[in-house]
Amino acid sequence: MEAFEYRKGEMFVDRVPVSRLAERYGTPLYVYNRSYLLGQYRQLVTAFSEINPQIYFAIKANSSAAVISTFAREGAGADVVSGGELWRAIRAGVEPSKIVFAGVGKTVEEIDYALMEGIHCFTVESEPELERISQRAQVLNRPGRIAVRVNPDVDPKTHKYTSTGKKESKFGVDLERAMKAYELAASLPGLEIAGIHMHIGSPIMTVEPYAQALEKVAPVCRELKKKYPKFTQLDIGGGLGIRYRDEQEPFDVQGFAGVVIRYAKELGMSVGMEPGRFLVGNAGLLVCRVQYIKDNPFKKFIISDGGMNDLIRPALYEAYHKILPVKETADTVLGDLVGPVCESGDFLAAERALPKVKQDDLIAVRSAGAYAFAMSSSYNSRPRPAEVMVQGRKVKLIRAREKREDLVRGEKNPEW
Ligand code: LLP
Repeated sequence: MEAFEYRKGEMFVDRVPVSRLAERYGTPLYVYNRSYLLGQYRQLVTAFSEINPQIYFAIKANSSAAVISTFAREGAGADVVSGGELWRAIRAGVEPSKIVFAGVGKTVEEIDYALMEGIHCFTVESEPELERISQRAQVLNRPGRIAVRVNPDVDPKTHKYTSTGKKESKFGVDLERAMKAYELAASLPGLEIAGIHMHIGSPIMTVEPYAQALEKVAPVCRELKKKYPKFTQLDIGGGLGIRYRDEQEPFDVQGFAGVVIRYAKELGMSVGMEPGRFLVGNAGLLVCRVQYIKDNPFKKFIISDGGMNDLIRPALYEAYHKILPVKETADTVLGDLVGPVCESGDFLAAERALPKVKQDDLIAVRSAGAYAFAMSSSYNSRPRPAEVMVQGRKVKLIRAREKREDLVRGEKNPEW
C-alpha cells in the first residue's frame, strides 16, 4: 500500500488532490496520510497480538504533535532521547508511564525532569549514567527504573551513520560488560532494574539481524532473570525498515513477530518496541514546485523549491527517495533534482531517471514521513515548510509554515 494514489492522472493523498494542497498551503509542503499512519500501527499490534507488547513510538522520527497524538490515542507510548522530546511527548498526550528515555548524554536536568514526571524507564547507555540516575533518584526520592542498553554486536547492514549495535558504537554497553553493569545497578541505591534494551540500527530490511541479536541477548536475560526479581522487560528497539525503492521487499512483520514472540515466551518476559520509521516513513510526502530546468552541456538539473534544509537524508546518508510527478507522466529524463541551497550536497535525487517535468510543475518526494521534517533546519535562512495531515476529505494544517520573523526569534543585536 502507498500513502498516495493516482486518479485520472492526478496524485491524491486519500481523497484530496495534492495539487490542491500545494495551492492552498504553498510549497515545499509536508503531507501525511493519517489512515496510513494508523494502518502501520495496527499492523504491528495485530502481528504481535499474542503477547500484547508496549509500542513506544520513536518520536525522533517525527515529533509533530498531531503525529504523536495519532499514535498516543491508539495506546502507544513514546521513546524519547532528550528533555525536549519528553516535553513534546507529554504535551501531545502520551502518558509518562508509557515513556522510555534513551540517549548517551542525559544531563542532570533531563534526568530530574524525567524522574519528576514518573516516566516508565530510563534506557541506560553507560555505567556513569547509572550512577547519575541513582544520585538524582535519591535526591528527588523517586524510583529510577532502568534497562541497560546492550550491544549485541551484530551487523544490521545499514549505512554506517545509522548502525548502532556494533561493539565500537557509542551506544549502550557491550554484552560482555552487561552483567557487571547490572551488578553496579543493583548496588546503587534508588535504582530499580526493570529490564534490558537493544537497538541495533536502522533501517533494517530483514528479520535476520534481530534474530541474531536476540539469540545473543537471550542467555544474558536468563541470567538476569534469576538474579533480579523485577527484571521482566525485553525492549527490542526500533529499526524496522520500509520500502524506499520499488524493488525492495516490504519488511516481514509476521516473520519478525514470530521470532520475537518465540523469545518472549521462552524467556517469560514482556516486550517493548520502539519503531519510528516503520510507522511514519511512507506516510509522508514532501511536495515541491519546480523553479527552473537547467540544461548544462554535461548534466540536466531540475531545481525545486525544496532542498537539503527541508530533507537532509539524501545529502547526509546518500539516501534514496523516490521522486514522483504530481501530474502523472511516464516520460523520464536523466539528471539531478536539486534544491536552492548554496551547497553542492544539496540534492534530493542524484543522477537518476526523473519524471519529465517543466517549470512550475509539482513533484513529490516519497518516504518523507520519517527523519524528514524532524531533521529540517532553516539553513540559508529558509523558513521551514508547513505540514498538513489528510484523512478522507479532511485536511488539517498541523504546523504553520515558518515566517521570516521565526528565523530571528530569540536573536539579539546588542549595542556595543
Ligand atoms: N530506538 C532507539 C534507541 C533509536 O536510537 C532509534 C533510532 C529508534 C528506536 C527508532 O529507529 P527507527 O525505527 O525509526 O528506524 N536519521 C536516520 C535514522 C537515525 C535513527 C536513530 N535512532 C535516518 O534518517 O535514517
